[in-house]
Amino acid sequence: MTNAIKISALSLLLYSTINAQNLLNIPPALTGTTFNLNVQSGSQSFYSSTTTPTYGINGSWMSPTIIVNKGDSVTLNVTNNLSIKTTMHWHGLHVAPQNDGGPHQPINPGATWSPSFRILNNASTFWYHPHGAGQTDPQVSKGLAGFFIVHDAAELALNIPHTYGIDDVPIVVQSKAFDILQQIAIATNMDTAIFVNGTLNPYFNAPAQVVRFRLLNGSSLRSYNFGLSNGQNIYQIGTDGGLLDTPKTMTRLILSPGERAEVLIDFSGMTGQTIYLKSYASELPTGIYGADTVGSGIDTVHDYEDNFLNGADFTLLQLNITSPTSSPVTSIVPSLVALAPLNPVNATKNRTIVLDTIRLLPSDIPNRADGPFGLNSRSFDMDSINQIAYLNTTEIWTLKNNTLIAHPFHIHDVQFNVIEEHGIALPASQRGWKDVVLVMPMDSVKFLTKFETFTNPTVPYMYHCHLLHHEDDGMMGSFIVIDSSALGVSDLENLDHA
Ligand code: C2O
Ligand code: CU
Repeated sequence: MTNAIKISALSLLLYSTINAQNLLNIPPALTGTTFNLNVQSGSQSFYSSTTTPTYGINGSWMSPTIIVNKGDSVTLNVTNNLSIKTTMHWHGLHVAPQNDGGPHQPINPGATWSPSFRILNNASTFWYHPHGAGQTDPQVSKGLAGFFIVHDAAELALNIPHTYGIDDVPIVVQSKAFDILQQIAIATNMDTAIFVNGTLNPYFNAPAQVVRFRLLNGSSLRSYNFGLSNGQNIYQIGTDGGLLDTPKTMTRLILSPGERAEVLIDFSGMTGQTIYLKSYASELPTGIYGADTVGSGIDTVHDYEDNFLNGADFTLLQLNITSPTSSPVTSIVPSLVALAPLNPVNATKNRTIVLDTIRLLPSDIPNRADGPFGLNSRSFDMDSINQIAYLNTTEIWTLKNNTLIAHPFHIHDVQFNVIEEHGIALPASQRGWKDVVLVMPMDSVKFLTKFETFTNPTVPYMYHCHLLHHEDDGMMGSFIVIDSSALGVSDLENLDHA
């Protein structure tokens, strides 16, 4: 990187730190059981004198929030008004593979795709975004990503905030890169613009009471170390796929791309104050969050390490504390829901997924820091099935990262409980429901999961790295779930060698 570019990147950072002049966009909420999602193109004026082509759903930029209840039967009519193919994936939801919206369910230009399914997940913060073969990063970066919020009876009964956009606030953080013509660019180290809910330099008027934030890292490639500028506590109440048993008190919270966390922050008595939600990347130790020898921060993309996002603290959102609402939540709820993580004694299958590099030449070293990255030494192939799981079976998956950078691993269909990280067993209290986990360089993670409800011998689900250009470049595999009771013994033996 030249110094000139570094300086312009730095001035952009400073600009975004000191000029929080845009009211945070709260994506419009869609409720009911039929959802019409019109995928379209448009433009925005992020920088004066230039318009930037964008995508949106039911608008020209970003996507609405879908709000449903557990048990609802919903239909989503996704109409593709773009001139290229798209897809729409319900990230974290437990749905049949043909409704999952992965690369095997493309929506042609002009077509409408209408999956119908029951909401089986517990209350949590999910999201949706395109997932086309090789097309996820460009389409998400241009604005196609929205929240998918599920409520359930246990969650609605809790004394926690529930008013969308007022004290129950969606926050999707996305760093974006602009090219020299101020067009949204992908997979570059110039992702110097921080957007929250599609807003640059955002501020939010937070009422002086307990506020629930649904944090989503919707970035293509950056992780964030969330914290508040006045050092006050953050109470985490939920992980990707559900609520925890009790709030966990912390001042810092790391989310890698694709991960969510629901948190409570108590602004009681703070009317008139201004604080900042920031990412404290500078605090993260070198070598744990990336084999980073230049910067000192979280580094999910080693080859882009010469980037201030890796080593510097920066502001995500200005919070202006305003008068409380008429019926505020004023204390942090002491307990949440019963958390019943899976039990390892029930696991009947161990599976290992190696995050590695594809060796293009025999002389290539196997654990390079640059790609192309693969899983079990393979690149994604639309026409093959990489893993076969059996219905109602509990499995232990070991993710082994043989590369020099960290990768956020995501699996469709299921939620999992992380049981071991860096070779250390996680206590039951930290085994919340997850669908993305960051696997550190040359490190490993073990999780427990169970394949339930849906089988389909031909349509696969995906598992992949959630750094979107890694996914697009083939760091993805597929699995099917089948009912073993419908098969003979010899079929099973054959499948095990597939
Ligand atoms: Cu958020 Cu397979 O994706
Ligand atoms: Cu990756």
